[in-house]
Amino acid sequence: MNQMHGTAGRTASRPVDRLMHDPPGARIALKILLFVMASSFFHPVFAADAAPYSADPAPARRSELINLVRQDCGSCHGLTLKGGLGPALLPETLGDKPVESLTATILQGRPGTPMPPWKPFMTEAEAQWIVNQLLKGFPSER
Ligand code: HEC
Repeated sequence: MNQMHGTAGRTASRPVDRLMHDPPGARIALKILLFVMASSFFHPVFAADAAPYSADPAPARRSELINLVRQDCGSCHGLTLKGGLGPALLPETLGDKPVESLTATILQGRPGTPMPPWKPFMTEAEAQWIVNQLLKGFPSER
């Protein structure tokens, strides 16, 4: 290899040099290795964030749910949730109702009333999270 660094072999040695110092295969392998290391390093963190045992949705999903309640639910329950076509969803009005039945109402809707089922759009844990937020006074933003 070293002979190739002479003046005679300078031009010829360049591509070889480049290959030796920066072979594309090694770059890709390095990227894969870094990716695997990074994903295994971060995996427990992500898993903890999205864990099913956690009652709180991940921050990005929280914002989505808050917007959904303010906009979609708000179209019937009022933008400030003080009631409209649907009843008020305030701590004062919901206070004595069981979390489970309110969660079921959100997921299944109330047949025969305009209250639609939201099951296609959220998990049970998310519906329960919404109920818990409504009972505390729904957040206006995350
Ligand atoms: C198309 C109109 C409409 C939309 C949209 C709507 N609701 Fe309703 N909702 C109603 C009506 C009407 C009722 C009352 C049903 C009845 O008469 O029992 C109701 C009832 C409820 C109740 C029960 C309240 C109580 O005091 O028992 C909850 C909780 C509720 N809605 C939550 C939600 C949430 C959360 C959303 C959005 C994810 C939502 N609703 C979207 C119309 C709507």
